[in-house]
Amino acid sequence: MEGTLETILLDATTPESHDQAIDRAAMLLKQGDVVAFPTETVYGLGADALSPEAIARVFAAKGRPSDNPLIVHLAHPSELDRCGRPSGDMVRRAALLAGAFMPGPLTLVLPADPSIPSVARAGLPTVALRVPAHPVASALLALTGPLVAPSANLSGRPSPTTARHVYDDLAGRIPAILDGGPCSVGIESTVVDLSGSLPVILRPGTITQQQIEDVLGEALADYAKGGGAPRSPGMKYRHYAPSARVRIVSSAGEYESLAPAERLVLAAPEFIGSVHDADIRPLEERTLYAMFREADAAGVEEIVIYAVLDKLDAGLRDRIRKAAE
Ligand code: TXA
Ligand code: MG
Repeated sequence: MEGTLETILLDATTPESHDQAIDRAAMLLKQGDVVAFPTETVYGLGADALSPEAIARVFAAKGRPSDNPLIVHLAHPSELDRCGRPSGDMVRRAALLAGAFMPGPLTLVLPADPSIPSVARAGLPTVALRVPAHPVASALLALTGPLVAPSANLSGRPSPTTARHVYDDLAGRIPAILDGGPCSVGIESTVVDLSGSLPVILRPGTITQQQIEDVLGEALADYAKGGGAPRSPGMKYRHYAPSARVRIVSSAGEYESLAPAERLVLAAPEFIGSVHDADIRPLEERTLYAMFREADAAGVEEIVIYAVLDKLDAGLRDRIRKAAE
């Protein structure tokens, strides 16, 4: 299928083209096509969440293994009840977390309503649900209804945070990209599984474990210890590693002992002033994936993360560890 489609860019970044771009994207989605769209975390590759044929196109366009389930995106938290079937303690927990963090960069895993096609869930009895806060995503979802959307990268590449990143990966493979400008968060949503006896974070993001525990008034299960909680199927796949090697250094001594190399340095604020011999940029969630893509495009030998990992937020730390694996 590669190179067989003309991929159009629908520009929702200017007031003149905004409405028309969103209407066109909604039309394509309603006829069963896949369209990439912006969310505040990363761009998603959308398809009608109630159409198994449309969902199959998402897996094909991304080259995604069919046993890795998708997140169902909704316009409003009130739609959670249509897609999820929480019972017992889950009802209260879902209401508290939705009230505090939706719309926003949070995904909840709940027992699935039978109306959600099994292909969207990779056959699991649960479904992942998220209400994005990006105004373009909200406007689109209000027109289309629920959309499945994995990150809009080719499998194995970093999640896209601009329409250009999506184009670089998926041009010729999807009919359209809705451009809503660069993403403000930059890493994927925090995924919290509420379907077990204790809530557990399956994927860290910018909403922290502490924030979630504060809202719930209880401790979460420790994901690392398993605790019998079903793991996120996505975790078993090799995650994106840039072609450049990724090295972590956390002191001036370690930095100075690096052998000479063509490198891009991403530095935490406390180290930013101490590098003068290399291309250096601030280490931040919002731009991390764009930096990985830039380093790969430039063919640099090595990306140096100059930071004390334990001082970083869990989401950023997790993505750096995966890239360095
Ligand atoms: O920020 C985000 O979450 C972005 C934007 C587009 O919304 N989406 C995203 O989707 O990152 P994706 O498909 O790249 O990652 C979804 C993750 C995967 O690790 C998947 O295994 C997990 O959520 N997941 C989905 N459904 C699940 C379920 N029922 N149970 C456990 N994990 C699930
Ligand atoms: Mg992804």
